[in-house]
Amino acid sequence: MATNRNILTLDEFTIQEMRAFPQATGQLAGLLRDIGLAAKRVNVEVNKAGLVDILGDEGSVNVQGEEVKKLDIFANDQLMGVLRHGISCAGIGSEELDEIVLFDDEISNKSKYVCLFDPLDGSSNIDVNVSIGTIFSIYRRVSEIGKPATKEDFLQPGNKQVAAGYIVYGSSTMLVYATKRGVNGFTLDRAIGEYLLSHPNIKCPEWGKIYSVNHGNFFRYNQGVKEYITACQKKDKTNGGPYTQRYIGSMVSDVHRNLIKGGIFMYPATTEKPGGKLRLLYECNPFAFIVQIAGGKATNGEINILDVQPTTLHQRTPFFVGSIKMMEELESYLAAAK
Ligand code: AHG
Ligand code: MN
Ligand code: MN
Ligand code: MN
Repeated sequence: MATNRNILTLDEFTIQEMRAFPQATGQLAGLLRDIGLAAKRVNVEVNKAGLVDILGDEGSVNVQGEEVKKLDIFANDQLMGVLRHGISCAGIGSEELDEIVLFDDEISNKSKYVCLFDPLDGSSNIDVNVSIGTIFSIYRRVSEIGKPATKEDFLQPGNKQVAAGYIVYGSSTMLVYATKRGVNGFTLDRAIGEYLLSHPNIKCPEWGKIYSVNHGNFFRYNQGVKEYITACQKKDKTNGGPYTQRYIGSMVSDVHRNLIKGGIFMYPATTEKPGGKLRLLYECNPFAFIVQIAGGKATNGEINILDVQPTTLHQRTPFFVGSIKMMEELESYLAAAK
């Protein structure tokens, strides 16, 4: 079937968006194109994951203490490659790299942006053919243009993000990204190798019926979280229920579904992991930004997660994100249990 010419490609869309900013240089559009290209390459590998020697452990343990999968490294290298060779990014931070990497060459030092990413989210699902993703977060540098980027460029609070997005390698492959102007979703048309605007101006429903949490950890959560989860289980027709529990174990897929359908995703602190599991800079902040722009909300259980001042690249945080009314209900349970 011929491609519908009324549907914009990602490149066409980002270039049209520039019209709203007469001072725009096209670097952000270039950055999104670079990330989209890396994701197409990852998508090809993900699709043949069962056929060739791309499954399984890489043999090392990352700075987080997790077993690294071959696809984690492949995705990391693809993203690092396109961003290093592009003209928009002065340096990167990644789940799979111990330290930030400053590109520090003549072109990169003139770039306006730095990028943080989780190259492959949902590693534990790679070997079993379940949806996985990539998450990215983009900041305007606070350091002097013309010089190498600095650590401070990466340790900005989430509310300073210029753009954030994710790619979900699911039954179709989608790239979703947000700027302050809105959230837009693009589906990869494999026939032409382009992302097409399939989900313009995404809004997160105010209420949903889905809650997503690892129930296996229930007895390790604090009292307020336990009471909220129990309330979710007790919901019925009289108070907006019944709710459905959905938990894939790939945050990209779990939050993508809840963003579209309405819902709440939680990765609370546990007795074993009092600081939570998910990483602030390249997992939580990008999703907090996207969901907030779409009308929802995200917190660490205390404050808006976008207001947290980061101190280290790989710091973790408890994370709650989703539909605005569900988040308000959660907050009332957390406050009551204090
Ligand atoms: P990653 O694969 O990038 O290390 O992230 C895994 C994360 C996230 O995708 C998911 O929501 C969470 O781990 C699942 O953790 P549990 O298995 O502990 O529920
Ligand atoms: Mn990991
Ligand atoms: Mn992840
Ligand atoms: Mn990862």
